[in-house]
Amino acid sequence: MNRNIRLSGNTFYVGVNDRRTQLFENLWPLPEGISYNAYLINDEKTVLIDTVEVSKTEQFIREIRAILGQKPLDYLIVNHTEPDHSGALIALLKEFPGLCVVGNRVTFRFLDGFYGDCPHKKIVEHGDVLSTGEHTLRFIATPMIHWPETMMTFDETDGILFSGDAFGSFKTLDGGVFDDEVDLSAYEDEMRRYYSNIVGKYGKNVQRAYELLRDVPIKMIASTHGPVFRKDPGWVLSRYDAWSQESTRPGAVVIYGSMYGHTEEMADHTARKLKEFGVPDVLVFDASKTHPSYILSAVWKYSAVVLASPAYNNDLCPSVKTVIDKFLERKMKSRYVAVIGTATWSGGGVKTLKELTGILGWDLVGDPVEAKYGASEKDLAQCATLAKTLAERILK
Ligand code: FEO
Repeated sequence: MNRNIRLSGNTFYVGVNDRRTQLFENLWPLPEGISYNAYLINDEKTVLIDTVEVSKTEQFIREIRAILGQKPLDYLIVNHTEPDHSGALIALLKEFPGLCVVGNRVTFRFLDGFYGDCPHKKIVEHGDVLSTGEHTLRFIATPMIHWPETMMTFDETDGILFSGDAFGSFKTLDGGVFDDEVDLSAYEDEMRRYYSNIVGKYGKNVQRAYELLRDVPIKMIASTHGPVFRKDPGWVLSRYDAWSQESTRPGAVVIYGSMYGHTEEMADHTARKLKEFGVPDVLVFDASKTHPSYILSAVWKYSAVVLASPAYNNDLCPSVKTVIDKFLERKMKSRYVAVIGTATWSGGGVKTLKELTGILGWDLVGDPVEAKYGASEKDLAQCATLAKTLAERILK
């Protein structure tokens, strides 16, 4: 097979799609799959940039051979060692015995740990260059996007930034590989979900990378997941910039747990009132039904959250706690937050929610509303009052 997907003169896309894996990192749903992108420069010295997940190795090597023929592969640049990108390493070392693996010191600590010692290696540092004939490749250290060893490679000859996971997305490349060949609006939600789930904790490091990239004349961005941006790299640069700063837009995400519908009724009533009071976007999630991956992505987008929980074993509804843990893990920036719920005989849900908003450092708006059993007219009226206060904060 030779798909001949050319980024520029002698630089090719040699990535693969994965529609079988259900959970990325065995954690995050992949209903639309994912691509593992790798790139091959067929220069005087041949260079592969990153590999693919181990299950795709055979297809991957066939693709490389289709371009190289019997030429050897001289270098493998490992921008990121996570096994979705390094999984084909052992097979590549067998296929190309002289292959020199290029990475930084931390890269090799990780590769040694995962796969054993590479027989030929070249250790590079930030700013080093590798000349391959026509191409000059410069290495840019971008640690903690999102692992300690992560780096980017900039092809100074063609202006292509091989960015590793940065600027990546969930969702396979279905025929179209480049931004001008796909409907980017179909990728945006999956890209934000990818960002918030995988990279989100490291926004400060992403911002540091923007500083490093400020004077780099980028013509094309080639990430390890999702489309290659050759027409408009600014499209993805602007989005990752906003997400890494957690620039939110006015709107509210209502997240509830509910065993028998009483807390759900309060959540729905509050959502309706938020809308009546002018909040442009209101989303409602049942935390027991929707995977936290999606709720996290929605909260990344909007300025306010309503947390709603019944009491469960004198505490919070476990599925709501699971979602809040995701916010805590990522040290998410402050949101306006309102708290509602039901107590039955013990209480505990609303109390714990209030405590957690304090730990999050979020801006608790109004007084929490806690119904005793089912929501009375008085409880619903209090939800409406709380929604009005929250809407005023969102819209101010
Ligand atoms: Fe796509 Fe961090 O691996």
